[in-house]
Amino acid sequence: QAQDARGTIRAYDPGPTYDRRIFTQFAEHLGTGIYGGLYVGTDSPIPNTNGFRNDVIGALRELRVPVVRWPGGCFADEYHWREGIGANRPVKINTHWGGVTEPNAVGTHEFFELIDQLDAEAYISGNVGSGTPREMAEWVEYITSPAGSLAEERAANGRAEPWALPYFGLGNELWGCGGNMRAEYAADETRRYATFVKAPAGTQIIKIASGASDDDVEFTRTMMQQTVRQVDALSLHHYTVPGGWPPSRSATQFGEDQWAETLAGAYEIDQILASHIAVMDQYDPDNRVWLALDEWGAWYAPEPGTNPGFLQQQNSLRDALLAAIHLNVFAKHADRVKMTAIAQMVNVLQAMVLTDGDQMVRTPTFHVFEMYVPFQDGTVLPLDLATPDYTFGEHAMPAISASAVRGRDGKTYVALSNVDPDTAIPVALTLDGMTARQVSGRVLTGAAINSHNTVARPDAVVPVAFTGARIADSRLNVTMPARSVVVLQLD
Ligand code: AHR
Repeated sequence: QAQDARGTIRAYDPGPTYDRRIFTQFAEHLGTGIYGGLYVGTDSPIPNTNGFRNDVIGALRELRVPVVRWPGGCFADEYHWREGIGANRPVKINTHWGGVTEPNAVGTHEFFELIDQLDAEAYISGNVGSGTPREMAEWVEYITSPAGSLAEERAANGRAEPWALPYFGLGNELWGCGGNMRAEYAADETRRYATFVKAPAGTQIIKIASGASDDDVEFTRTMMQQTVRQVDALSLHHYTVPGGWPPSRSATQFGEDQWAETLAGAYEIDQILASHIAVMDQYDPDNRVWLALDEWGAWYAPEPGTNPGFLQQQNSLRDALLAAIHLNVFAKHADRVKMTAIAQMVNVLQAMVLTDGDQMVRTPTFHVFEMYVPFQDGTVLPLDLATPDYTFGEHAMPAISASAVRGRDGKTYVALSNVDPDTAIPVALTLDGMTARQVSGRVLTGAAINSHNTVARPDAVVPVAFTGARIADSRLNVTMPARSVVVLQLD
């Protein structure tokens, strides 16, 4: 028997900005994340603009992607930027991801073409693990400098104007694929490389240090102790891997036990962020250095029959709930968490879109990101919630997850999700410090917990108009359907 969830939106006490960069996307040279998925080349029969697929770009533009992180990931610490400019580009082996050839057809100029087509900002991760400070400094100069021989070389390659480079990553996972460094050594390398990343006069480059993973707060402590004056942000990576490492669970073939296991895992992000932020608060009490959770999402076993190094997985209604839980938790930590990047944008891990030849489908996760667009640069409205638990076997978690913002358009947006797969739950929210008379919104759900979109059935999980919400006497009453994500607009 469902109990009700009850709470209050404290609109009289607005919190920090829900930064648009929380919706950053990550695009790595991995599997078909770039080649085939995003970039097909100008000679392809698949409709494209300067090599980038029109269908995929069109869909991603619906998400108002604020920032794209590139070229990795683990690939970043093997990448040598000179191999991706000019007419003669060596074909290399992508040793980290599947041992396939890397044609270097997408390099710096093509990445900035993607940035232009998406109307996004660039976040480039440099090579600390196998590059040199000089190589990194020259890449930054090639991209950003208005004058000098590297700027002339850039012009000769077709781009006279410097590009804006607002975000630069100092390597990736230095504790692992970025060089297997101890925290102390990673901190020293970060200080050294950061010294040589220089923005031209009048511009700024936010330097993002490669940070910890999961609950390794001691890595965060060392990085904060040693690099707090050299960097502007510290990254964190945390994936939801039901069943533990290595990923073994199927993305689509699961019952309620794995549904509950995965979504209980999704809720762990709250405690993980809180523990890293507590350490950052000690070394940066003025809250200058952001926490950038620049890799997160579900990681399952690869789709049967695919190259295991391609990290290709389907995406179901369960992933929509997982994404919504994360996006709601980020509101709680928005004073420190200014950027997050789901992994990854196309065809890899918890992707926005999946392609199959010349076909493309929007995933359930795509639809959640689209529903949350009004959250971008909104103001967090604190939301206190008492919710019943949803329990299955040994897995227990809050049934309802929620967040609220005052959007840039002045309207209030409330996001709710219900992880209970079978039971609708009434939610009553007192609207304190605001007036609203009307409510409208959309709901995302599916016929089954593993519903997902395919080329044959692209609309199995799509948002539709929601009629289960009412406002009366400063109270928002919502009947949250089982296994659903709802985003409401209050006028
Ligand atoms: O997103 C896939 C990989 O996961 C990234 O390359 C790496 O940073 C992480 O381990």
